[in-house]
Amino acid sequence: MATSGKVIRCRAAVIWAAGKPFSLEEVEVAPPKAGEVRIKIVATGICHTDYHVLKGTFPGAKFPVIPGHEGAGIVESVGEGVTSVKPGDKVIPFAVPHCGECSFCLNPESNYCLRGHFTQSQNLLPDKTSRFTCKGKQIHHFFWTSTFAEYTVVPEYAVAKIDAAAPLDKVFLFGCGFSTGYGAAINTAKVKPGSTCAVFGLGGVGLSVIIGCKAAGASRIFAIDINKDKFVKAKELGATECISPQDFNKPIQEVITEMTGYGVDYSFEAIGLPDTMIAALASCNMNTGVCVMIGQPPADSVLSLDPMLLLTGRTWKGTLLGGWRMKDSIPKLVSSYLEKKINSDLLITHTLPIAEVNEGFELLRAGKSIRSVLLF
Ligand code: APR
Ligand code: ZN
Ligand code: ZN
Repeated sequence: MATSGKVIRCRAAVIWAAGKPFSLEEVEVAPPKAGEVRIKIVATGICHTDYHVLKGTFPGAKFPVIPGHEGAGIVESVGEGVTSVKPGDKVIPFAVPHCGECSFCLNPESNYCLRGHFTQSQNLLPDKTSRFTCKGKQIHHFFWTSTFAEYTVVPEYAVAKIDAAAPLDKVFLFGCGFSTGYGAAINTAKVKPGSTCAVFGLGGVGLSVIIGCKAAGASRIFAIDINKDKFVKAKELGATECISPQDFNKPIQEVITEMTGYGVDYSFEAIGLPDTMIAALASCNMNTGVCVMIGQPPADSVLSLDPMLLLTGRTWKGTLLGGWRMKDSIPKLVSSYLEKKINSDLLITHTLPIAEVNEGFELLRAGKSIRSVLLF
């Protein structure tokens, strides 16, 4: 490509300081170094985790920063030694890398790489430098994805090649929201046919859990949200009962326990609040119930709970990106989408130009959107 080896000037949505809105800026993006890939981002989704960055409640995020971790694009150029993708390939970058070498990657049961953000900061690329500058200042990366930039640079082990036929303005969802929710049901909980499920939070992630529970053959799927506008879509995707905690004068866990006899087989928290995490745990059957935590809590959150909740046998699990090993799994999920085995399109409610990134986050905050897709 004509731009290969050169600095590219392009648009990006930058947050200069915690709590400040996005500014659309012209940024410089340096060429990829060895083992890195420069991608032209075509479409990127607005996920709740980026909202934490915006508010300054994402643990370890550094400013100024270019957020965004749910994007899809086309490889522009590659650094030395890169073999798994080439210029022109359609790709999806992902926030939980897969270096294939660390002890976690070598464990086939693990999908967390020790180079991930929770053990090694992803505010800069692995060589501890940034490829982004703006107005003479270095801008931080986020999650090694930074998909709110028209061109971004990521390590080869944090990007997967997908089918050339994939529509980028649809499959960007596989970079986070859809994969996270669907995988939480399929991989982490391993929902069984005929079982009962309860999903707390009906955003893009929670609705994807519902798609996963339905695909796994659950017989009853409770959908829980304080925003009843979310119920129509939840039903369309497979929820059998929709309930708002605000309609009851007792805790929602008691309501669900009564409705099911002893609690559901599987519960999921896709909100990210301490109270709903405990409510989700208490909503599953005291003995064989499994509760999966998906929601990202604000930095420094602390939970307190009655230990009896666990002593009687419940299983409490977390999940990152739905347990998928993304480098191998994203191409397969995209292929299933192309074969029409997965329909994630219903989750995309708004399409906006990148210049309207702040409006996109306002739609999410106000509960009006499920997923907005930003186009460059
Ligand atoms: N009780 C029930 N539902 C609630 C409550 C509550 N107390 N508070 C918020 N909700 C609902 C909102 O009304 C909204 O529909 O939770 C939903 C959250 O959805 P989104 O904001 O769209 O978030 P989403 O992108 O789906 O992510 C959910 O998963 O990956 C994590 O970081 C992500 O923590 C976030 C969570
Ligand atoms: Zn690793
Ligand atoms: Zn996300």
